[in-house]
Order: sequence, then structure tokens, then C-alpha cells
Amino acid sequence: MTIHEKAYAKVNLSLDVLRKRGDGYHDLRMIAQTVSLCDDVTIELTDKGGVYAECDMDRVPGGGDNLAAIAAKKFFERAKSPNVGVFIKIKKRIPVGAGLGGGSADAAAVLRALNRELDAGLTESEMFELALGIGSDVPFCVAGGTRMMEGRGEILTALPPLKGCYIVLCKPPGSLSTKRVFGGTDAVAIKNHPDTYGMIKALETGDIPGFGRGMFNVLEEYASKLNGEIAPIRKGMIDLGADGACMTGTGTAVAGLFTDLNAAQTAAESLSKVYMETYLTEPVSPP
Ligand code: C5P
Repeated sequence: MTIHEKAYAKVNLSLDVLRKRGDGYHDLRMIAQTVSLCDDVTIELTDKGGVYAECDMDRVPGGGDNLAAIAAKKFFERAKSPNVGVFIKIKKRIPVGAGLGGGSADAAAVLRALNRELDAGLTESEMFELALGIGSDVPFCVAGGTRMMEGRGEILTALPPLKGCYIVLCKPPGSLSTKRVFGGTDAVAIKNHPDTYGMIKALETGDIPGFGRGMFNVLEEYASKLNGEIAPIRKGMIDLGADGACMTGTGTAVAGLFTDLNAAQTAAESLSKVYMETYLTEPVSPP
């Protein structure tokens, strides 16, 4: 049996750090969106046992260490079918080390596909629990769409679907360690926070430019000290007509929201002359 599943990238359109927790994580409040840039995940089920993943990009771990392979192992442990063998192939398009949840999206695609195709019957909350054991962004990637993410990222609230806009993604060279960016941001000292509920209000009333203007990521200040190209890319997006822009996750990619398609195309074209990893995407809603 061969299953094909799209693994869509995740973009944080706002990211707020509320507090540092005792368990090493931070309580966050974010607005996240699934976008059309995706990896292709192919899952072959065999009767040989064992889980193996292969990716067409060298920087991504293969074998059993890939997040998609870890997801399959955890799924079969949970669904109590330990003898099923899985061979996962990933065609990577989502930039790695970008804050776009590429690895999480691949893991989520595996969980979604196996639960559906094998009629395993795990409920939504069981899937989210399994997903959180793989990474903080995996529950969102399982669910997809437009959501507020809270807690570590696993408390999900569905928001009205973001429509009528385009999201340009631009990643400068270099990646940042997630732990380092969180570690360098002092939650208590953060002066400016995104107006998350103001953005949600704008979304509810269909004020997409207003929603875009609210985009803000509190981790960007420290990340910008480590990578000097994040701030100029964000400014470039605004100068090229974005309604709003901010770094996604712990970077280094920047997302710009455009309500005007021509402006989005021009911005993507212009940025791609300097930054190879530039993409014009659209918001995607779950089927
Ligand atoms: O859950 P995940 O493995 O993606 O998290 C990677 C690291 O990011 C954590 O070890 C932690 O340092 C940081 N993190 C955090 N607060 C979160 C999510 C991640 O501090 N809510």
C-alpha cells in the first residue's frame, strides 16, 4: 500500500512569549497559518517491520531519526500494530531551519495519513497528544488552517479562515537554533507584544490589511542580533507593499502578507534576486 500526503508549511503571523515555564518550555500565544508551500510525503507500508525515512535533501536526517519516522513509530506503538513496516520518502520544498515547521509538517502528514488510511480511529485529542510528543508545532500541523496556538503550541483555537491574501516567504542563508533564540529572549523584559486579540478581531470582521498590520514576533529582536538579514528583509517586504511582515517561529524566514497579488508577485521576484529561498504562497484551509 502506498499513501501520498502533502505536508504544508506553517507560518507564524504573530508570536508572543507569555512566560518561561519550569519545564524548559515557554508559554506562547501565536496566530499560525498553513500555507501552500509543501513537501510531498510518500508512505509505503510493508509487512517486513521497521521504520525508515529517506529525504532528497542532505541536511535532513534520514533513517529512523527523521521526525516523520519518529511519528510513524509512535503511531504504530499507540495504534498497537507493531509489525507493520514503513518506508517514508520525503520530497523537500519547505526550507530547513526556517521557522516554517518543515519537519513538524512531515511528521503530521504521516500521523494524518496513517490514521485515515488504516482506519486506526485515533480521535482528534489522541492525535494531538501523540503529535505533542514529537514536537510543539506538530499538533498545529496535524490540524492545519488558521488557528491561535497557546501553551507550548498544543492548545489550538480555530479562527476564521484567512482568505484574500498572499504570503511571501523569504529565508536568508543561515539557520538559528530554536533553543538559542528562546534562551536569548527574556520573557519578563519584552516591552512590545503583538495585539493578538486585535488581530483576531480584524480577521473576524474581514479586515485583512488590518490583520496584516498586526503581524509581530517577539523573538525577532534577539534573532535579528544573530542574523543581520532578517530586519532588512522585513523592511523590504513592507517597502514592496506588504500589509505586514514578521519573522516566523524562531526564524530565519520572514513572512509578508499582501492583499494585492501584483505587489506580492513583484516583492517575491525582487527578493528572489537576492535570496534563493523566496516563495509566493497562499493560505490553505484543511479539506
Ligand atoms: O517542542 P520542540 O522540540 O519543537 O521544542 C524545541 C525547543 O524549543 C525546546 O527544547 C525549547 O527550548 C524551545 N521551546 C520553548 N517553548 C515552546 C516551544 C519550544 O521554549 N513553547
